Amino acid sequence: MTGLNDPILPGPGATDYERYLRTDELLSLQKRPEDMAHRDELLFQTIHQASELWMKLACFELETVVAQLAEGQIWPAVRLMRRAVAALDHVSESTMMLEHLAPWDYHGVRTQLGHGSGFDSPGFRRIHDLSPRLGRTFEAALQRRGVTLHDLYRHQDAHPDLFELAECLIDWDQRLVMWRTLHLKLVERVIGGGVIGTQGTPVEVLSRRLDVRYFQDLWDIRNGLTAEAGTSPRTP
Ligand code: HEM
Repeated sequence: MTGLNDPILPGPGATDYERYLRTDELLSLQKRPEDMAHRDELLFQTIHQASELWMKLACFELETVVAQLAEGQIWPAVRLMRRAVAALDHVSESTMMLEHLAPWDYHGVRTQLGHGSGFDSPGFRRIHDLSPRLGRTFEAALQRRGVTLHDLYRHQDAHPDLFELAECLIDWDQRLVMWRTLHLKLVERVIGGGVIGTQGTPVEVLSRRLDVRYFQDLWDIRNGLTAEAGTSPRTP
């Protein structure tokens, strides 16, 4: 008779926990101490691998959001959008964790990175591809409802589902701008702001890319509302 502690799932591992989560494989994805050129490689690999997982989740949710919006399912899309934004918060938290890496120790890690660069992060590339698609699907949803961005923000309670969605999109954009800022400050404190990265890019280039925004219209509408509020009596 199998007891509750006995594994019933297929696959390697002594317990169902290990089998379902594939912990053997997962925990072998980082260098073993005897293979490390520097002990902080574990910190560096953990942070980057964990970030790739959070971005994988965020993009998985975003794919569904795009499909849901195409079918007019706005509230379900809002729920998953919030989850995707929360996943980005973990990427930022992970990035800040690298503040525990001392500059000289990074140079020990860097000897192992080859030409590896964040430009080739699958997660960030996916975010870069998916975000404009999300923007287009949002615009199509507005058009189908026959509402302009201005109407949506001027009468937010008339279309609460679309309004919440729009705010989720701005959360997404804002989180990414905040991540780029955190990353730049991290880079400056670890390798300096006046040097060249592992793929030959001057760090200074990162500062010019800080303010990339995928949903510029959503930022611009705020300017319009502020101008309008200054010229007309404010109604709730
Ligand atoms: C000690 C920590 C880090 C250093 C010194 C560093 C350094 C750099 C440098 C110099 C670049 C410019 C491209 C190049 O030549 O490599 C870059 C780009 C990038 N890094 Fe990092 N990085 C660090 C941590 C991270 C972390 C933790 C992540 C992800 C969670 C990350 C993701 C990226 C991405 C996505 C880019 C491209 C940015 C863009 O497209 O604007 N980096 N990094």
